[in-house]
Amino acid sequence: MKRKGIILAGGTGSRLWPTTIGASKQLLPVYDKPMIYYPLSVLMLSGIREIAIITTPDDQSQFQRLMGDGSQWGLRFTWISQPEPEGLAQAYILASEFLAGAPSAMILGDNIFFGHGLRDLLATANERHNGGTVFGYHVNDPERYGVVDFDPDGNVTEIVEKPQKAPSNYAVTGLYFLDGRAPELAAKVNPSQRGELEITDLLELYRAEGALGVEHMGRGFAWLDTGTHSSLLDAGNFVRTMTERQGLQVGSPEEIAYHLGWISADDLRQQAEIYRKSTYGNHLLSILD
Ligand code: DAU
Repeated sequence: MKRKGIILAGGTGSRLWPTTIGASKQLLPVYDKPMIYYPLSVLMLSGIREIAIITTPDDQSQFQRLMGDGSQWGLRFTWISQPEPEGLAQAYILASEFLAGAPSAMILGDNIFFGHGLRDLLATANERHNGGTVFGYHVNDPERYGVVDFDPDGNVTEIVEKPQKAPSNYAVTGLYFLDGRAPELAAKVNPSQRGELEITDLLELYRAEGALGVEHMGRGFAWLDTGTHSSLLDAGNFVRTMTERQGLQVGSPEEIAYHLGWISADDLRQQAEIYRKSTYGNHLLSILD
């Protein structure tokens, strides 16, 4: 069965501002495009065209206004509501009908990945049909994330959510490739002390079976966080630097769809028209030259 995608763009008590004020943070621009375009691009680079987007019921219409049904990028979107932010693993339960037994790649709506070789890394994860794959990334502040614990031989012994004392510097990024059993296994996860179905508990079920691969995302990759005011600004500056220095796009669904042959040159031109007055529109037009 073909792998399907999930973008989890629901709400938690954001550290940027309370979710009751204004738009969801995933709709905010990171430099020249909405934040959610970046995780969407990662799913597209994995070759995934059928994608469920999970938002709060309140935010859904704004996301739909921005992204429609996905056909402008050669995609098909299914819209799912998550009334309360009851945990990342809950996404699989909510998406169970959409997935209908298919394997999935789930990405958090605020995660940005960039780097040479990203497509190869995604292809490796995509090819694994049984079990799951997550990505370990070396960070300075692992306590803020799900963290991988290794034994002296480098085998993964545990994945722990936001430990007070981190067992390693390897954070688990917000990109999860799981097999078709994910909804069924997610239903076995009990709420944690903070009342959430933790993704790390779901991953632990896979790991305990020996069915979880942890791929190393090395130095050549940027995994950016947009969770605080500073990190949001840093992410915008990163995208600006890469775009202006290389003249290449970071996280552009239009460009990826065109290069993968999912939309025609005319479709791309039409999309570029929408952004005509901005540098983003000019970048899109320059792809056609
Ligand atoms: O970014 C990677 C980290 O993401 C992982 O290392 C952690 O294991 C994982 O738990 C998660 O940690 P965060 O602290 O970043 O999770 P947060 O609660 O901030 O939620 C991440 C995004 O997912 C955020 O944009 C809101 C959205 N979300 C979150 C929850 C709990 C939902 O849409 N629904 C939810 O129920």
